[in-house]
Amino acid sequence: MKKILFYGAGNISQSIIKGLINSGISKKNILCIDRNPVNTEKLLKIGIKSVSKKQLNNEIDMIILAVKPKDAFQACQEIAKKMDNLNIVSLVAGIKLHKIEQHFKKAKVARAMPITASAYGKGITAIYGKPASRILINKTKKLFNQVGTSIILKKESEINNFTGLIGSGPAYFFYLLKVYEKRVLKLCEGDKKVANKIISIFLDGISSSVAADISMDEAINIIASKKGTTEAGINSLKGNNVLQLFEKGIISAVRRSKEISDEY
Ligand SMILES: NC(=O)c1ccc[n+]([C@@H]2O[C@H](COP(=O)([O-])OP(=O)(O)OC[C@H]3O[C@@H](n4cnc5c(N)ncnc54)[C@H](OP(=O)(O)O)[C@@H]3O)[C@@H](O)[C@H]2O)c1
Repeated sequence: MKKILFYGAGNISQSIIKGLINSGISKKNILCIDRNPVNTEKLLKIGIKSVSKKQLNNEIDMIILAVKPKDAFQACQEIAKKMDNLNIVSLVAGIKLHKIEQHFKKAKVARAMPITASAYGKGITAIYGKPASRILINKTKKLFNQVGTSIILKKESEINNFTGLIGSGPAYFFYLLKVYEKRVLKLCEGDKKVANKIISIFLDGISSSVAADISMDEAINIIASKKGTTEAGINSLKGNNVLQLFEKGIISAVRRSKEISDEY
């Protein structure tokens, strides 16, 4: 098997690499490049070797570009100096495909938007590429399916919707869960381990219900009874327009994603 190189080995690369290792990919097929030794040392500890930029060669089948947007063009130039006929998957938020493509004569380029839960096999990744890059798109899908699930987007602009909804999504739920964390901790007399276990199993239960194809309303109705506690809670949430406010938050994130992509 040819090798995958993570160009930029920070937060998101490390999450994907951990997920890939857990899914059984051989460590010797994963390489990384990062100018920050903290990242390369972290990866070395889990058996992933870093290479120098001089070692870029055709043994590498796919480069995952995972640097911050401000560093992306310089990274492309560095790669283009050493390789051209290659497959690049850019994870860089906000930089459109053609802006990456213009650095290379022959490279096939796709974009992917993963999430850090890839580390636990719970990744959700959106993939976009031009029809001419079908082979790369399918390869990318296969790769990201090893760390969760993925969807292929028809239009590049849909990446903004995905980012606002799924990319930023876990943070919305962490934010909401702060209410639970505070109250569950009180119930557990401040024992964080017990509180975390309760919240984690609580979320697993919700997740299992979704996976069992039970609709959201059905799931609520199974819990709620007339004049009961759940009905009182839900009515209060409805009365305070919580759903509309939640959706407003998502719309703001989608809008920001679009603004960022217009900046580059
Ligand atoms: N984090 C996420 O959840 C997530 C999700 C989806 C997409 N993304 C996208 O993925 C990209 C990376 O995000 P991240 O959070 O993983 O960033 P990060 O933790 O900052 O990692 C990027 C690493 O790349 C290094 N780097 C930058 N330019 C380089 C170059 N030319 N040669 C070698 N190393 C270079 C950086 O070094 P320095 O520290 O010296 O700058 C840094 O260590 C971003 O564009 C982001 O939009 C992130």
